[in-house]
Amino acid sequence: MWKHIRQWLGSKSTTQIHVAKNLATDNIPAHVAIVMDGNGRWAKKRGLPRVAGHYSGMKNVKKITLAANAIGVKVLTMYAFSTENWKRPKDEVEFLMKLPQEFFPLEIDELMENNVQVRMTGWREGLPADTLEAVDNAIERTKHNTGLILNFALNYGGRKELLSGVQQMMRDAKQGKLNPDDLDEAIFSEYMLTDGLPDPDLFIRTSGELRLSNFLLWQLAYSELWFTDAYWPEFTEEHFYQAIAEYQRRVRRYGGL
Ligand code: FPP
Repeated sequence: MWKHIRQWLGSKSTTQIHVAKNLATDNIPAHVAIVMDGNGRWAKKRGLPRVAGHYSGMKNVKKITLAANAIGVKVLTMYAFSTENWKRPKDEVEFLMKLPQEFFPLEIDELMENNVQVRMTGWREGLPADTLEAVDNAIERTKHNTGLILNFALNYGGRKELLSGVQQMMRDAKQGKLNPDDLDEAIFSEYMLTDGLPDPDLFIRTSGELRLSNFLLWQLAYSELWFTDAYWPEFTEEHFYQAIAEYQRRVRRYGGL
């Protein structure tokens, strides 16, 4: 019963948010992808160690997830750790790898209450066993949820994804499972780690950096890009709704007129 009451209240407040933020209900991006950048600089500005910035950034994930869920976003992909992040100092990598063990026990109940489904996009190989266990538990626990998909890009890199996808296509072609003449965008997408998810409609990057940084290179082809100077730990629901409002003001032409 409580679940239904919460869902009912949730849907009421969704409408209120649309009205309050002046958002059109019929043009909400289905998939938003976020590069959560600036944790280190946020911490430095406060005289704190970099890892304090990562912790604070982690605490921001649920807030933005619920903000996205409240307006009807279907998929939220968050860049949590790239294949290039292994180059960081060992202590920082170790801290980042512990974040899922910290995050899920803290937030899983609220994610469940909000019908959020957790997923991961990235390579399992190389991730510590306890990191994977925390992520796998959350995936398992939320797998029947039908609301927003909270997709963590963890040990993910766009070029590696493209290369391994192409390698698999070549193997399949060699075995006669894929005819090179049949290859089209839909089939190509099936070889990406995001198979089954729509391409992001909106890409957000915090901290003033204007780069894709090897994030979802195939999938972002037609996404609208939105940048803010705010560091990720200080990125609020207001910033998020500002990005959505800007998205709604743009006309997507996909190369047409
Ligand atoms: C980039 O900021 C941020 C990261 C490499 C880590 C992002 C991860 C989180 C916010 C938490 C993820 C949560 C879970 C549950 C996995 P930066 O350190 O490069 O910032 P800087 O450019 O200021 O140094």
